[in-house]
Amino acid sequence: MKTLSTFLAGTELAPLIADIAESCKQLAAEINRGALHGKMGSLDATNVQGETQKQLDVIANDIWLQVNEQGGHYAGMASEEMEAPYLVPERYRQSGKYLLLFDPLDGSSNVDLNFTVGSIFSILISPNHAPALEDFLQPGSSQIAAGYALYGSSTMLVLTTGQGVNGFTLDETSGDFVLTHPDMRIPQDTSEFAINMSRQRLWEAPVKRYIDECLQGKDGPRGKDFNMRWVASMVAEVHRILIRGGVFMYPIDDGLRAQGGRLRLMYEANPMAMLVEQAGGAASAGLERILDIRPEALHQRVPVFLGSSREIERIILMHRTP
Ligand code: F6P
Repeated sequence: MKTLSTFLAGTELAPLIADIAESCKQLAAEINRGALHGKMGSLDATNVQGETQKQLDVIANDIWLQVNEQGGHYAGMASEEMEAPYLVPERYRQSGKYLLLFDPLDGSSNVDLNFTVGSIFSILISPNHAPALEDFLQPGSSQIAAGYALYGSSTMLVLTTGQGVNGFTLDETSGDFVLTHPDMRIPQDTSEFAINMSRQRLWEAPVKRYIDECLQGKDGPRGKDFNMRWVASMVAEVHRILIRGGVFMYPIDDGLRAQGGRLRLMYEANPMAMLVEQAGGAASAGLERILDIRPEALHQRVPVFLGSSREIERIILMHRTP
């Protein structure tokens, strides 16, 4: 069986991905201990997004920072949990020419429930040895690698370096990530969607219309019944879509208008969009391809529609048609 290190052997990104795999393993071990280590609760703090921080959010962030800075590959890092970019200390930065952006614990509201959570990451080339905020604000099309770790019934690392998408499962006995899901492809068609239906009254007309047509099932214009799933953990939703197709949506709505959406562009939407496109799917903000968006802020939020390409085309059409 091919391991992650043999799969990437000889490539420039191999040592970077090896460090990311190590972060995922260390974090998986923390998550797997569950309530045993007494670190599952919330802190009395909120993160830069104004969301309640869990103890594990902070632990996850520390693991990702420490493991990845020591490899000496990065000039700077940015995380959901830190307001400003992190300049890697000079002793590690000497050869660092990359930037790492990450959400260390996505879906953390699920962590107390023993549900699936994940980490999401994006790698860019650093234009400067000592990168400033502007150096991080590159469009998603500049990503040279992206992926996620999924901490579920097994731990997985799903990765793209721009040549398709491959999934690796952690073998707890050997400690290796093993290639179990080579060349993941998203079917073009689907009859499954994921959206937080509790926000329906707040949606814009194109989203209302798309979902309304799906809900009419066999009797409506789509002529088929749709199924719905909502895990409230983006990593789990995208993983399901990579395995069996589907559509995931987090649109802008009346309650999210001031902040521009729910999901963060740089370390949630962009890496997931790259994975989905590399697997033959599509990812849009409604009218614009997510990977083409020119970021204006590190923690910028965007509407997200991603998954099976024919459904995303239909959602884009709904946005274009008044
Ligand atoms: O980081 C945002 C996130 O936790 C995603 O992982 C998930 O898709 C979404 O928020 C869940 O949103 P809601 O709380 O509306 O269900």
